[in-house]
Amino acid sequence: MEIIHVSAECYPVAKAGGLGDVVGALPKYQNDLGHTAKVVMPMYRTKFLYDNEWEVTHKGSAHLGMWWFEYTIIKEKTNKLGFDLYLLDINGLLDREKVYGYDDDTERFTAFQVSVVDWLSSWKHKPDVVHVHDHHTALIPFMMKYCYQYQYLLEGIPTVLTIHNAQYHGAMGWDKSHYIPHWDGWRWGLLDWQDTINPLACGIKCASKVTTVSWSYLEELRYMSNGLEALFEYEKGKCTGILNGIDTKVWDPETDSYIEDHYTIEDAEKGKAANKKILCDTFRLDPSKPLVVFIGRLVGEKAADLLPAAIGDSLHHINGRMTFLILGSGEPSVEYQLQRMTNGLSGYYNAQIGYNEKLSHTMYAGADFLLMPSRVEPCGLNQMYAMRYGTVPIVRSTGGLRDTVIDYGDPQGYGVSFYNASVGDITHAVYRAVELYDDQPRMASIRKHIMELDFSWNKSTQQYISVYESIS
Ligand code: ADP
Ligand code: GLC
Repeated sequence: MEIIHVSAECYPVAKAGGLGDVVGALPKYQNDLGHTAKVVMPMYRTKFLYDNEWEVTHKGSAHLGMWWFEYTIIKEKTNKLGFDLYLLDINGLLDREKVYGYDDDTERFTAFQVSVVDWLSSWKHKPDVVHVHDHHTALIPFMMKYCYQYQYLLEGIPTVLTIHNAQYHGAMGWDKSHYIPHWDGWRWGLLDWQDTINPLACGIKCASKVTTVSWSYLEELRYMSNGLEALFEYEKGKCTGILNGIDTKVWDPETDSYIEDHYTIEDAEKGKAANKKILCDTFRLDPSKPLVVFIGRLVGEKAADLLPAAIGDSLHHINGRMTFLILGSGEPSVEYQLQRMTNGLSGYYNAQIGYNEKLSHTMYAGADFLLMPSRVEPCGLNQMYAMRYGTVPIVRSTGGLRDTVIDYGDPQGYGVSFYNASVGDITHAVYRAVELYDDQPRMASIRKHIMELDFSWNKSTQQYISVYESIS
């Protein structure tokens, strides 16, 4: 099958979170199964663009409302990522360093989608599936079916929408409806959700199939999806949960180019201790105590606002029997608090505010525990990376965390899980982690077990292919 993924992120070209990891890995695994998967994404001005060789494959023009613009598509020449990678450039809109966070994101991603559809309509043959990811690309199924200029060429192509995060819908006012190329006005209801144009809702209504990135998250969306609950209930027949995998070629403690000391299951204790020493030396932490880390976006979804109090309470109530290290960026007030706490808790706690890929890998390798108290976690990749590196996850039992971590209180268990996103529950979970750490034989056997678990893409890739086959 020929599959074209359309996404705002793709690792290592541009990544803001797990979406980038998934779109950088899934197509590669689909190709390994003998399919032809390709990725098209915006041409941000990132290091990857300047470090690689490209050829122009298409030039076209389109409209965003009254604005006529030209776009260019370039293709990476050497198949470096294991799939064909296309970058789409629109001068003045996509030529930015960051993926998101600009005032004109609506215009940027709508123009991107219009251009992708325009480009697809110029192909001599048609792909078997167009696979779009999250709200930034979720208008594409509508455009392929109901924009007069494109429908006769594209309406027959099956589409899949994968929802990585239903908190964000990309909603825009009806005053921007002219951004979408001349469309069948009778279909306005497909664009609408609560009196705005809601790209995510539109994608759910128009895509041939919808997938979410874990089974539990799909269940949760029917009662907690930021206003789309009724829609998920109504469309449940076309929705499937497929758990993300991890790219075991990139995330492997034996070969990871970001970490200094490599290790396998056999010498994990030694390898982890060496990486822990690097972290403890750099961040002035006591290496004899269990190290609990948090890596991620400092936002409400990740319950990052609870970290300062939970860390303070854990250190206080559990008598400083552990150390904490935080890596992340996000809400300024949380960043400020986490940074400020470094003053009074030297030796026990430290934080690095910002995005740092190398440090994150060293943390997965060197930590004893990874904390994820998420309020919402569609899948979560961190816990799977952590386990591959022998780091025990401490997670709130929600979404993909629920589907991937079993509490060590269970005979089959290997992690620490808790139910409420509250300071009390987090503190208690940290206490249980310290107890586990003190039982060294149990800790060693759990570490071995989690490193052996298979979270690779192999199974999930086949599930995506089955979804495509069901609609083509
Ligand atoms: P989300 O996509 O919701 O942020 P995921 O768990 O799916 O959560 O993926 C997060 C990805 O982003 C992981 O690869 C994680 O290591 C990475 N990450 C998040 N924050 C940072 C950071 N500050 N520095 C480095 N990597 C980060
Ligand atoms: C989103 C989710 C995260 C998921 C990732 C990749 O960003 O928040 O849970 O792992 O997408 O699907």
